[in-house]
Amino acid sequence: MDETSQPVELLLSVSRDARGTLGAQIEDGLRTAIREGALRAGAQVPSTRDLARQLGVSRRIAVDAYSQLAAEGYLTLRQGARPRVSEAAAVAGPASEPAPRATPPPRFDFTPSVPDVSAFPRAAWLRSLREAMGTISDWDLGYGDTQGVERLRGALAEYLGRVRGVVGGAERVVVTSGYQQGLGIVSQALARRGARGIAVEDPSNRYQLDIVRRAGLEPVPIPVDEAGIDVSALGRADAVLVTPAHQHPTGALLSAERRAALCAWLRDRDAVAIEDDYDAEYRYDRAAVGALQGLEPEHVVYAGSASKTLAPALRLGWLVVPGVLMDAVRVEKTQADRGTARIEQLAFADFLARGELDRHLRRMRIRYRARRDALIAALAEELPEAEVVGIAAGLHVTARLPFGDEDALRDEAARRGLAFETMRDYRPGDDGPLTLLLGYGGLPEAAIRAGVRELAAAIRLPGSRRR
Ligand SMILES: Cc1ncc(COP(=O)(O)O)c(C=O)c1O
Repeated sequence: MDETSQPVELLLSVSRDARGTLGAQIEDGLRTAIREGALRAGAQVPSTRDLARQLGVSRRIAVDAYSQLAAEGYLTLRQGARPRVSEAAAVAGPASEPAPRATPPPRFDFTPSVPDVSAFPRAAWLRSLREAMGTISDWDLGYGDTQGVERLRGALAEYLGRVRGVVGGAERVVVTSGYQQGLGIVSQALARRGARGIAVEDPSNRYQLDIVRRAGLEPVPIPVDEAGIDVSALGRADAVLVTPAHQHPTGALLSAERRAALCAWLRDRDAVAIEDDYDAEYRYDRAAVGALQGLEPEHVVYAGSASKTLAPALRLGWLVVPGVLMDAVRVEKTQADRGTARIEQLAFADFLARGELDRHLRRMRIRYRARRDALIAALAEELPEAEVVGIAAGLHVTARLPFGDEDALRDEAARRGLAFETMRDYRPGDDGPLTLLLGYGGLPEAAIRAGVRELAAAIRLPGSRRR
């Protein structure tokens, strides 16, 4: 289709009863829209034929009005091209304020929890998306079941049972727009049912505290050590938020004893755990430990996400919910957004059914493991004082240093184009040893080696070395 033949709609009306000729009304309407910024420089406007048809006026009137506006510098008219608002007619004001200048990307981006989206399986996803679009029923194009598309819930229940030991059928699965939304709706559901205090791992992602507070829950920080969350400190909380497979950010695995103790605590208090099964797909040294939910399905809400396995842009997550919480979670999900995008849900169901996620993860585990090994080898060479803690899993390495001034290091690192996090991002005011969280998901091995060299040089400067 040639450019000028595509119809362009315009919010403009004229009336034979109004003051002024029809042509003058068109001119006034367009002048005002351009001056006030509703129509911005370069914006398309309808062809004169389209405009005449939309407004029910003769083509001649539209042609004359456009000629006048072009003569005044409002429109640019070129043979064979769609008429546009001229660049010179751009207005100052909120609609045309310059976009904030983007900060340049870091030279070495060690930000934790970032997957390698350059490896996103585009062809396989496109195939599933095409399949979804080609077969979606008219019913599925409606709002449908707020809990999620049945086919995806079934595929997820099967997948999670198989690879994570999660217990529960499609009827227990709620599809969400990512983990973050899942945490919000479960917190609201818990608060609605009378929960007040929620134990939260310390350290953990700070944004979670705001989410649970917004829901009306009071977060209670609970220490974490090399065996995971200290279950004996849970006390009288009504719920607990945990990352048993790979504590974020310390990298600890919740030990078997602590798992048993946590299950006993959940049963005794009739409390609920929200299990963020974060990073469970990426265990490099042995088979992953099964989900906590499999041990205590009536007291654990399992939460997963496609953000680390595929791409955050999908905004796809899932919950497996105990029966007693199901109604409340459904209500909250409905109120949040009436359900996650259904075409993508069907695509994901097809993707899972074809075994594409398994295939992708097999590839990615090899890639991430090589990157992790490269990072650990580079640390051993360039910063042998660094102690790597946590299990061989996930998308980042947690490294403790016996020296280092964090503020000076941060300044120097920024100057050298290095991005990373430290324990203070998860526990403000932390006065323990300088602990670096170095993500390797998006960095090839050569960049990892060069980046660690740069990092070591920044740390060894006299200002950064102080403690
Ligand atoms: C600890 C943890 N859990 C889960 C997620 C995934 O969140 P979402 O699915 O909302 O992208 C993240 C993302 O960074 C995370 O750091």
